[in-house]
Amino acid sequence: MSDDDLKPICDDHEFKGRRLANRLRNEVEAEVAEMVSKFGISPKLVTIIVGEDPGSQMYIRMKHKASNKAGILSEHYDLPETTTQDELLKLLHKLNEDKTVHGILVQLPLPKHIDEKTIIKAIEPLKDVDGFSPANVYRLFYGEEALSAATPHGIVTILDRIGWNDLSGKHAVIINRSNIVGKPLIMLLLNRNATVTICHSRTKDLSSFTRQADVLISAIGRRNTESDPFFITEDMVKEGSVVIDVATPNGDVDFDNVKQKALCVTPVPGGVGPMTIAMLLENVLAAYKVQIQD
Ligand code: GUN
Repeated sequence: MSDDDLKPICDDHEFKGRRLANRLRNEVEAEVAEMVSKFGISPKLVTIIVGEDPGSQMYIRMKHKASNKAGILSEHYDLPETTTQDELLKLLHKLNEDKTVHGILVQLPLPKHIDEKTIIKAIEPLKDVDGFSPANVYRLFYGEEALSAATPHGIVTILDRIGWNDLSGKHAVIINRSNIVGKPLIMLLLNRNATVTICHSRTKDLSSFTRQADVLISAIGRRNTESDPFFITEDMVKEGSVVIDVATPNGDVDFDNVKQKALCVTPVPGGVGPMTIAMLLENVLAAYKVQIQD
């Protein structure tokens, strides 16, 4: 056991995302090694980017680096902006059929001429390591969490690991209503018995909700004002709460001040981000295990 394994994951009210993510990634790496020695086949993740989104390139590089470190093979398709929807669908059909491929991830956003829903639907659900396909969303709705979206899954794993795995009597407030973060989080938090409120850009008097939150999850992702950049300030959080900041590259939360009041706050960077990558690796391993034992 390394020293890091013994250190707390919430230290001086600061959640140590890299520390927990490293532990989880080491667990995936150990399990991958065991499975490969048993079955003689390595798990493989294929990623696809269409077009030139700079953020996408960076995220995909991080996903490949982490996969390779855990013993997961990876392949990447960098497709030009001019790729048609039919061409992308053909590639997905080929990858769905390819038995050496266990996970498929199409990085979003896609160019405007390609319909995101059609593409997500075309990914074989067993290989859908993003957890976005209708079959996986349906399973999440019914409380089965295999292959659930990496960011929300990372957030509930943070809560689980700090000992807040049963949220009975607790109020969770989410500021985000996207398909990738806010909506799947509703299900994951309900499954843990939380009372859940969703706030968004049309919510009036945001702080009247945030002040009630035992768990506050903020994913606004833009600056408030030049002189006052943080949306979530100390006066908006409840004493002893857990505050999870999902915004990148700059957090929504005034970390240094909120930390004085909250039980645990996730920093940006080094909070939710590393957890998201670890959850993707867990999904690739889970997808591979189902397919290899088929
Ligand atoms: N774009 C931003 N976040 C994500 C993610 O989790 N998965 C995919 N496929 N695209 C994204």
